Formats: sequence, structure tokens, C-alpha cells
Amino acid sequence: MATMRAAVFHGPNDLRVEQVERPHAGPGEAVVRITLTTICGTDLHILRGEYPVRRGLVVGHEPVGVIEELGAGVTGYALGDRVLIGAITPCGQCRACLSGALSQCGHGDGWEAIGGWRFGNTINGAQAEYLLVPAAQANLAKIPPSLSDEQVVLCADIASTGFSGAESGGVRVGDAVVVLAQGPIGLCATAGARLMGASLVIGVESDDRRLAMSRRMGADVTLDHRAVDVVAEVKRLTGGGADVAIEALGTQQTFETALRCLRPAGTLSSLGVYSGKLEVPYDAFAAGLGDHRIVTTLCPGGKERMRRLMALVEHGRVDLTPLVTHTVSLDRITDGYALFGERRDGVLKVAVKP
Ligand SMILES: NC(=O)c1ccc[n+]([C@@H]2O[C@H](COP(=O)([O-])OP(=O)(O)OC[C@H]3O[C@@H](n4cnc5c(N)ncnc54)[C@H](O)[C@@H]3O)[C@@H](O)[C@H]2O)c1
Ligand SMILES: [Zn+2]
Ligand SMILES: [Zn+2]
Repeated sequence: MATMRAAVFHGPNDLRVEQVERPHAGPGEAVVRITLTTICGTDLHILRGEYPVRRGLVVGHEPVGVIEELGAGVTGYALGDRVLIGAITPCGQCRACLSGALSQCGHGDGWEAIGGWRFGNTINGAQAEYLLVPAAQANLAKIPPSLSDEQVVLCADIASTGFSGAESGGVRVGDAVVVLAQGPIGLCATAGARLMGASLVIGVESDDRRLAMSRRMGADVTLDHRAVDVVAEVKRLTGGGADVAIEALGTQQTFETALRCLRPAGTLSSLGVYSGKLEVPYDAFAAGLGDHRIVTTLCPGGKERMRRLMALVEHGRVDLTPLVTHTVSLDRITDGYALFGERRDGVLKVAVKP
């Protein structure tokens, strides 16, 4: 049995790099040799036992690599092709996918909530030497030769998610957009709002380094929520309220603040992952009569999404590399998790090299 090294979840706070069986490609699948991946905030939730996955699972969902094996029926690719694969791997065949809701993929059949997120969730993930890619025809995106792994690795998840916050929010040319929280996701939402043509982007955060990065990623104004009344300040800066508010944390407080920052008929675009109960106070949305829109988005995936994001990088519309602040080897990945989890040393994203 051929083996490989992989980061395996053994239970809360127990992640081990060990030898596991190396995957092989069946029909419609591919095996990719991972050259670069990263650690996601969601992986921290898994490691801490806050998001349940099965023991023995290889974690990680942000893969860049080289095609090592191609299963029967996968066409248009060659062994050795450099590819990026989204965190979300739609099948491209089910009702959800064919209705355009790729992230809610039902795996060849109907619909499944969050069904598109499989890597490091329901099947083995990317923090390993090799990765088995399901529905390879729909998910292998060739990397333009001029781009490095570092330039594209964040397209798999945080850039796709962050930009989608602006896209789902329907940001129009000239809009004023406020983004609540400037973690990796919020920073990409800030960049996305700028890409969509916002005239004013306001980033809200309390961490000084992240406030500085917010300006670098495209915010015109940053607000420290500890120091100012965010709602009053957004209303003042926008002359009555933002057209779009993007929530990028997943708490009652930021959700409510986002809603209160909006003008009537504005859009709250929510990216955060919530727990427990989320309440909508009646006064913040005019008792349901204010024509507000509230939309949620799971990271868009699939090879066409990845191609589009890499095209933005290739043509200089966005540079994601400042967000990759640290790099560790796969063997030292638990150090990377500790650094990332404790938010030491100005960390934003930790790249992992097998
Ligand atoms: N929708 C999706 O597909 C998707 C994908 C990945 C992650 N997520 C979710 O997105 C959220 C953000 O992820 P992340 O990795 O950027 O998180 P993160 O924890 O790295 O960053 C969160 C930031 O929020 C800031 N913050 C805390 N309280 C705040 C407040 N009251 N106002 C403004 N900022 C505040 C913190 O200082 C921190 O910088 C999480 O809920 C995560 O689970 C969603
Ligand atoms: Zn993620
Ligand atoms: Zn599908």
C-alpha cells in the first residue's frame, strides 16, 4: 500500500501529521499532488471541536497542485498540469448545480444544504501530499503559466467567498459599501466591493494591523468599532446609510450593526457562519416594510469560478499575496494552527507546503 503524509483530525485539539493511504483516481476523479494549501478559520473550528467532522478525516480545503492521476472519463487535462481546485466542489450534474446553486450541490441528485463543501468536511481534504478530487471535470482549473501558487492559493476559498459578498449584495457602480470585520474574509469582501465599482468602501475592525490591511485592500475609510459609533459614522459618511452592508464575522452584534448601517431598500449580504439563534430587531428593518434584502452566500466553487478569479489576478485587478503572511511545512502544520489560532505576529493566512 502506497502511503502519504497528511494532517489527520483525531478529535478536539488533536491533529496529527501521519502516514495514511494514498488515494487513487476512479472514474471521473483525479489525484492531485499538493504543492501549496492554507489553513482556514473553519479548520480552527474543526480542530477545536466546534464543527463536527469524523475522526480520521484529512482536513483542509484550499488546494493548489499538479495532476498526478486522471480517472476514466476526465478529458482535456494531462498529467503534470498545474491546477487550482475550489474549496467547494460541485458535481455539475445535480438539480442544484444545473439550477446555478453550485454550493448547495446534491451530488448527482437533488439539493443538499452546504452539499458543495466536501474537502476536509465529508471527504478527505487538502492538508496532505495528495488529494482525491471528485467530479474532476467540473473542478480542475488550470493555472495560467504566469501565475505562482502563492498568487492563486487564496482564490480557492477566501477570495471566492469575500468577493461573493459584494456580488451577492448586488454592489453597483457608485455604491457605498460597509464591511463589518476585516479578517481574511472581510478583507476580500473589501477588495470585492472595490472591484464591483463601489465609490466608497468602509472597513470596520478593531485590530490595528487589519485596519491597515483594509486600506491596502481597497477601503477608503476604516472605523475602529471600539472607538466610534459605527452606525452613526456610516450614516454620516454615506448621507443616510450604506447601499450594501457586508457581514463577515457571524455574530448577532455585527449582523444587527450591518442592518442598522443600511439605507431603506439596502442589502445586507451575510458571509458569517452563525451559531445559536439570530434575531432581527423590528426597528432595524422597518418592521419588515423597509424593502431591505438579506442574502447569504456559501463560497462559490467549480472550475469556471476559479478561472474567473485567477483571471483577475493575472490581469492585475487584485493582488492577494499580502494576505499570505506566513508559510510552514506540512510536518510543522500544528505550529501553523497555533500561530493562526492565537492570531500571533500579525497573521492573516498561513500557507502550507507539503
Ligand atoms: N460564507 C462562507 O462561505 C464562509 C467561508 C469561510 C468563512 N466564513 C465565515 O466568515 C467569518 C469570517 O471569517 P475570517 O476567517 O475572516 O474570521 P477571523 O476570525 O479571522 O476574523 C474576524 C475579524 O473580526 C474582527 N471583529 C471582532 N469583533 C468585531 C466587531 N464587533 N466588528 C468588526 N470586526 C470585529 C476581529 O478582530 C477579526 O479580525 C467566519 O464566521 C467564518 O466562519 C464563511
Ligand atoms: Zn475555508
Ligand atoms: Zn451538483
